[in-house]
Amino acid sequence: MQRADSRLLKANSKFSLMLFLMLCATQLMGQAVSVVNLRTELLVNPVGIDVTLPRLSWELKSSARGVEQTAYQVLVASTPEKLSGNEGDLWSSGRVSSDVSVHVRYQGTALKSNERAYWKVKVWTSRGESAWSSPANFSIGLLNYVDWKGRWIGVDKPFPWDSETQWSRLSARYLRKEFEAKKAVKRATAYIIGLGMYELYLNGEKVGDQVLAPAPTDYFKGVKYNAFDVTSMLKPGKNAIGTVLGNGRYYTMRQDYKPYKIKNFGHPKMLFNLLVEYADGSKDVVVSDDSWKLTGNGPIRSNNEYDGEEYDATKEMPGWNKTGFDDKDWQKASFVQEPGGTYEAQMNENMKVMATLKPVSIKKLKANTYIMDMGQNFAGWIRMRVKGAKGDTVKLRFGENLQASGELYVRNLRDARSTDTYIVKGGAQESWEPSFIYHGFRFVEITGFPGTPTLNDFDGRVVYDEIKTTGEFVTSNLTINQVYKNAWWGVLSNYKGMPVDCPQRNERQPWLGDRTTGSYGESFMFDNSRIYAKWLDDIHQSQKEDGSIPDVAPAFWRYYGDNVTWPATYITVAEMLYRQYGDLESVREHYDHMKKWMDYMAGKYTQDGLITKDKYGDWCVPPESKELIHSRDPKRQTDGVLLASATYIRLSFIMEEFARLLGKPEDAGDFSSRASAIKAAFNQKFFDASKGQYSNNTITANLLPLVYDIVPEGAKENVVRSIADKIMVENKGHIGTGVIGTQWLMRGLSRNGRSDIAYKLASNRDYPSWGYMVENGATTIWELWNGNTADPAMNSGNHVMLLGDLVIWYYENLGGIKSDPSAPGFKKIIMKPEVIEGLNSAKASYQSVHGMIRSDWKRSGKSFNWNITVPSNTKALVYIPAAAAGKVKEGKKSASSAEGVKFVGMEGDRAVFEVGSGDYSFSSGK
Ligand code: BGC
Repeated sequence: MQRADSRLLKANSKFSLMLFLMLCATQLMGQAVSVVNLRTELLVNPVGIDVTLPRLSWELKSSARGVEQTAYQVLVASTPEKLSGNEGDLWSSGRVSSDVSVHVRYQGTALKSNERAYWKVKVWTSRGESAWSSPANFSIGLLNYVDWKGRWIGVDKPFPWDSETQWSRLSARYLRKEFEAKKAVKRATAYIIGLGMYELYLNGEKVGDQVLAPAPTDYFKGVKYNAFDVTSMLKPGKNAIGTVLGNGRYYTMRQDYKPYKIKNFGHPKMLFNLLVEYADGSKDVVVSDDSWKLTGNGPIRSNNEYDGEEYDATKEMPGWNKTGFDDKDWQKASFVQEPGGTYEAQMNENMKVMATLKPVSIKKLKANTYIMDMGQNFAGWIRMRVKGAKGDTVKLRFGENLQASGELYVRNLRDARSTDTYIVKGGAQESWEPSFIYHGFRFVEITGFPGTPTLNDFDGRVVYDEIKTTGEFVTSNLTINQVYKNAWWGVLSNYKGMPVDCPQRNERQPWLGDRTTGSYGESFMFDNSRIYAKWLDDIHQSQKEDGSIPDVAPAFWRYYGDNVTWPATYITVAEMLYRQYGDLESVREHYDHMKKWMDYMAGKYTQDGLITKDKYGDWCVPPESKELIHSRDPKRQTDGVLLASATYIRLSFIMEEFARLLGKPEDAGDFSSRASAIKAAFNQKFFDASKGQYSNNTITANLLPLVYDIVPEGAKENVVRSIADKIMVENKGHIGTGVIGTQWLMRGLSRNGRSDIAYKLASNRDYPSWGYMVENGATTIWELWNGNTADPAMNSGNHVMLLGDLVIWYYENLGGIKSDPSAPGFKKIIMKPEVIEGLNSAKASYQSVHGMIRSDWKRSGKSFNWNITVPSNTKALVYIPAAAAGKVKEGKKSASSAEGVKFVGMEGDRAVFEVGSGDYSFSSGK
């Protein structure tokens, strides 16, 4: 009996030991560190990049606290098989002791044109070692001009039915070619430069899901190519390639009109290479040449970014992009001039249909005319399903608003016709959406629809660059929530391979000044790293030999007039990429050109120690009368010399930092002394110490010196008071700044202890305010504070420049998520939400390059509850409202003794802790 018992006991303890070990293992597994989200040049498995030493990034993932990378190993192989056998024949980094997990430079064998590489990474951390990550890959594009075989083809004249007038109409050009895949195919890569825009088909299938590609550039300076792995689309034997060329910005929307201002590049054209590698190792290339056939007599009769697309379905050519099509009526493609610039891999995302919306209503306006409401202003187009008789003609006209009569309002589109026309083929139901245009709209006027149009016949197709939404933000304040939503829609509407000012009227230009600070706020909402890096290249390409930078880049419109505030964007966007993404590459690449511009401006426009050249003033301040676009009241306007000089000082500080980062101490010293010299002249000229006011005491005149660190020691408080008085007394609690002042308004107030005023401005619903836009039915952000009453000559309903620093303030000050300037890319995070009377909660999340950051706080009475997530391989400084550290808990424990939490000290009414990665639940105040 005893023996049996002891056996039982033994078995039991064995069992419990096993159980214990299993438990430990699952716990360890739960806490294990893995490596995810591998990116090459911040892109996921890119095809055809032209950086031969690309930078690799990854994210560590773990539910454990305090995970820090201590070392990594990267393997890069020429085949997936080698990689899975752990053979890094291109590069094996070995074990590198480092905590760096973003922008790690590939240092292996020099990569050649069209070469493909596969990579993976493993890390060692404070919490153990990861397994190898899943593999990622990238391929190199055609690096040299001579790697491109074949010639540019197209046809350099209009067809008889085209019209090259101010409202230009040019039919799309269809090109086709058949070729033979002689043997079994191992790999096939298609490279295309299709200008202005292309659609590419292989055996009748569309290649890729991009639309409106490639990204626009100044085609005289550089053109972008796209590359696709099309291996699986090729068939043994005969294959057919089809391309359609649209105009985009190449053959511009306005021909024969203001040629001194509007750049026109020519007729659509393309260069195409299909590189085929057969299983036996031999190679083939299919190129664009005069064996291709071409027609302009297809269904796309006209495509014009401002005026719309006209599609005649009766002219469809079934099977034109497949083998066996009879193209005897087509002409031979002509050899045409090359565009002139360099060939560059497109390293920013193409546009795509990113969402599909259902309309909310369709109302009959009069016989044959209906008005459809999409419920949301956005950029894109309508997909339509229609069944009718051959030749029925449906017209869709687009606008942002309705007139009081219920008719479409189009006066603010200026001369953009924004109309799509569809001619019905007849027979079964037809489904159509345009190929080479987009509109900015909420409402659609439908005429000529056979039968009665219903909601089911239409879809709204939301089109913008294929970039992820990275942030979420919601608070207890409904106005703030709606403005945030409007901002999100506004920003995405204006991403068009470059940031444009607006998507609807006859403009749609990449104005620099609209994004000087906006780009930073946007970076919380969207992963805009690639589109802005590309835009810096555009800006560089637009720079003149002497250093001058235009206000619009690519310079589709010629606006070289020199000022400081618009071109400043060249420098501030590079700063944003560094701070938000930890990416110094753009700074490195553009530093010399930025410096050249800084020197040029100072050399040309310095007078009495100040920089004198300005053009736009504090653009779009709230005017004295609600019909005006620009104020004529000198009391509302800020001196241009003040704007230019203050901005120049700020830029000098940024350049000083760039110079330091790049190891150029002499330059740094030079920029620092420039700033000091201008500062002295600035204060002498503009500052009235007795009143604590600058210049004519506008909010902007006082704000810029305050935030740019120009105000003399001891005088700050008075300047803050001047701003506060102006807003609270003279403006009765309302905003009084334009595009320049608004870029610093919210942060400026918060930094100087006036978050209460900032919150008031953010919550207002009467004129002028962001909430006023919401109150008046806006679903995006307006160009003007008085967008519902002002002259339509310059009055877009979807402009983002008036956001200023609002979105930054939402995330950094309300959400409490900010990258520590000393450790960019959120390697170190400052989590310090404002506690403002009236705001009871905020919930923000942000997918940083290091991983997901979360901040979710609630306040009631004296208690403050805060859940946060700090990504692996980062740290955060958290600022918790509390009278003393002892009043703060993490979970059920005193915060100071919680795992991963270290008390740093008190700062005013905040207890400051340093925390490692992980999820935490803080509470204080009870
Ligand atoms: C644009 C603005 C731009 C401004 C500068 C306007 O027409 O829409 O966004 O910055 O001009 O002059």
